[in-house]
Amino acid sequence: MHSIVCEDVWMVYRSMFSEKVALSGVDLKIPKNKIFGLLGPNGAGKTTLISLMATLLRQTKGRIEVLGYDAIKDLKEIRKRINIASGNPNLIWSLTVYENLRYYSLLYGLNDRKVVEQLIKEFELEEFRNVEFNRLSTGNKQKLILARAFVNDPELVFLDEPTKGLDPPVAKRLREKIQSLQKDLGITVVLTTHYMSEAEMLCDRIAFINRGKIVAEGTKEELKRMLKMRDKITIEVDAKVPEMKLDGVFMVERDGNLLSFYVDSAESRLWDLAKEVAKFGRIKNISVKEVDLEDVFNELAK
Ligand SMILES: Nc1ncnc2c1ncn2[C@@H]1O[C@H](COP(=O)(O)OP(=O)(O)O)[C@@H](O)[C@H]1O
Ligand SMILES: [Mg+2]
Repeated sequence: MHSIVCEDVWMVYRSMFSEKVALSGVDLKIPKNKIFGLLGPNGAGKTTLISLMATLLRQTKGRIEVLGYDAIKDLKEIRKRINIASGNPNLIWSLTVYENLRYYSLLYGLNDRKVVEQLIKEFELEEFRNVEFNRLSTGNKQKLILARAFVNDPELVFLDEPTKGLDPPVAKRLREKIQSLQKDLGITVVLTTHYMSEAEMLCDRIAFINRGKIVAEGTKEELKRMLKMRDKITIEVDAKVPEMKLDGVFMVERDGNLLSFYVDSAESRLWDLAKEVAKFGRIKNISVKEVDLEDVFNELAK
């Protein structure tokens, strides 16, 4: 059973003078009651995709099903059952910890102070209950943002870069919290991150997103197996080589006269690649190296 199904999802941001394609043909299935990670560099489309799944935006094309409901037609049904927390602090800055949680639970029509008290306790915010949001430390702000995402007892929680900007020990505690909450409550968590280690620690399945496309998806082990096979061919050439599309090339990276091609198999692609590059200049050097998950992600995140 899946919590979320995306079929050929496109998102184009349109303004008077420009168009920006943020997602192009995303197909994705997110299983129930697990932690799913959406991993990718800045500008990849993570926030856009999570916002569509959380019904905060409407896709330009394609279908999104959340908990069995259509994200456009059954938006109200979905909103009751989900919640979202973003790493960009966005609570009401002049309200205290208690007031913020109370305010948001009232927005959900829940007039139960017990829930607020439980959340304050669960997120270890007792000491700060009467402190205004803007006076909290970044770590406590993040805790409060996370706490707020649980006011309506959601089945599905979206976390958009939950540990962004936190010191490593604070980030670590928050990750542990996310992990234990997911286990205890048996909910589905979809989180975005650009930290490989965060995805590795928390997520049962991971999708890599880059330039609006899902480029790989699977369990950590599957991804490693899949990506391990990929080789990096670096070619040094004495001229500028235009962009090209070649079979089996997963990604191209440019650094001056150095071109790096991430390929499924160096053995089968090297000859064609070298031939193609040689059309534009003289090849000075070629090197081949096997890449691992961390490598691929570091390249994606550049
Ligand atoms: N409201 C918007 N209007 C126009 N372009 C946008 C808007 N929001 C995001 N974008 C663009 O869409 C792309 C994806 O952005 P986003 O989903 O925020 O990526 P990420 O969360 O992975 O950093 C980026 O190129 C970004 O500049
Ligand atoms: Mg984002």
